[in-house]
Amino acid sequence: MKIKRIGILGAMPEEINGIVLLLENKQEIVKGMRTYYIGTINEIEVVVVFSRWGKVASATTVTHLIVEFNITQLYFIGVAGAISQELNIGDIVIANSLVQHDMDARPIMRQFEIPLLSKTFLYPPSKIYKDAYSSIKELETSGQFLDVISIQNQEKFLISNPRVFVGQVASGDKFFSNTSDKNLLLNLLPDVLCVEMEGAAVAQVCFEYDIPFVVIRTISDAANETSPVDFKEFIVEVALKYGIEIIRKLIK
Ligand code: ADE
Repeated sequence: MKIKRIGILGAMPEEINGIVLLLENKQEIVKGMRTYYIGTINEIEVVVVFSRWGKVASATTVTHLIVEFNITQLYFIGVAGAISQELNIGDIVIANSLVQHDMDARPIMRQFEIPLLSKTFLYPPSKIYKDAYSSIKELETSGQFLDVISIQNQEKFLISNPRVFVGQVASGDKFFSNTSDKNLLLNLLPDVLCVEMEGAAVAQVCFEYDIPFVVIRTISDAANETSPVDFKEFIVEVALKYGIEIIRKLIK
């Protein structure tokens, strides 16, 4: 039987630094400009690494986790820009489907279809994302998300009632920072809740290697003109702390 070994990818180095604090028996391996932190959390073997940004970088990192470290499942945490009007900064989205919004091989294929897979959407196994949802929902209902953010930061980011959503995540090599790009995406992919730059690439690799995965994103900005400003502040003040709470809940 394969040993359970969980890969944890973080989309921001700051988030990784927070999760690394949870590791027991920590070792580090540096390869390909990435530092892999190996250890245990609650006696479960984990390998934690910064995905680096964008589809190529994150696909490469997850492939390394699968091939070199023999992970048996993957948690990907990070931040995302809100596309759906329903979302506020500080909300969490758990992906139940992922799409590469910049994949376009027309006229050979339909827009967004991944070449050779005949797939447009990638789906995590329902058990892993539903289990993640129930665990993370407990953080919502117990008010733990708010507990870890200072009152000043709750006010600064207008976080009053962080909620957990399940839905579609779109990924591509683009940081969304204006309303017209956001509306364009929404016209083409009306079910998208949020955008980021790695999840659907990682999902493709996990699908191809048959590794169960879940992508969990905290909304850091509204994917509009205010994004670049909010984004940097949010990572340091909020995402790092959320990341720790989420991983503690998932690995117990
Ligand atoms: N990750 C966080 N915010 C984002 C945005 N606005 N666009 C793309 N990726 C993001």
